[in-house]
Amino acid sequence: MTDTFTIAIDGPAAAGKGTISKAIAAQFGFAHLDTGLLYRAVGARVLAGVEPIEAAITLQAEDLDRDDLRTAEVAQAASKVAVIAEVRAALVDFQRAFARRAGGAVLDGRDIGTVICPNAEVKLYVTASAEVRAKRRFLELTGKGEVTSLETVLADVMARDDRDMNRAEAPMKPAADALTIDTSELSIEQALQVALKEISAQRMP
Ligand code: DC
Repeated sequence: MTDTFTIAIDGPAAAGKGTISKAIAAQFGFAHLDTGLLYRAVGARVLAGVEPIEAAITLQAEDLDRDDLRTAEVAQAASKVAVIAEVRAALVDFQRAFARRAGGAVLDGRDIGTVICPNAEVKLYVTASAEVRAKRRFLELTGKGEVTSLETVLADVMARDDRDMNRAEAPMKPAADALTIDTSELSIEQALQVALKEISAQRMP
């Protein structure tokens, strides 16, 4: 019997789920998978001219190492390829295997608690208002030297939310048994404390 423990963290862009996921993984010594990166890597290949389903089926580990996956352009491309059922299907096995690896795993994304790991021991849904998220993402992008405006980033965030929430296949939504954490008015440290309390409750019943 291997020692597995899966923490599923879903939610929209820039709600803080990546930061919280990394901190939780570090705290428990769990492996962490940012599943958005898989869709971003597929999106980047599509922008380079590869057909979406082909791009997902033939995705290689090196594709995840590209340093241009965090741009706004790639984010929109990721959200677009993510509506395609065959693209999602091609990425399922890798994510499930990662989730059940020995030693524990944290996966963050949009459909982890609902579709990829419906039996995860802990499910969190990390969210915040679109305005707060746009401001965070704006600071992140301009900090990296991207030239943009707050209005553009807010429009992008809202377009992506709309596409991610309203697609037929694995739409972004909290699992019925997920704990929702709204980080609009919380610091990262406060949000992390809420998450850690929930994990402790599930680990030591
Ligand atoms: O988390 P992110 O911003 O890197 O995700 C980029 C896009 O990938 C997101 O807009 C929708 C898609 N995605 C998804 O459909 N399912 C996931 N589990 C993760 C991301």
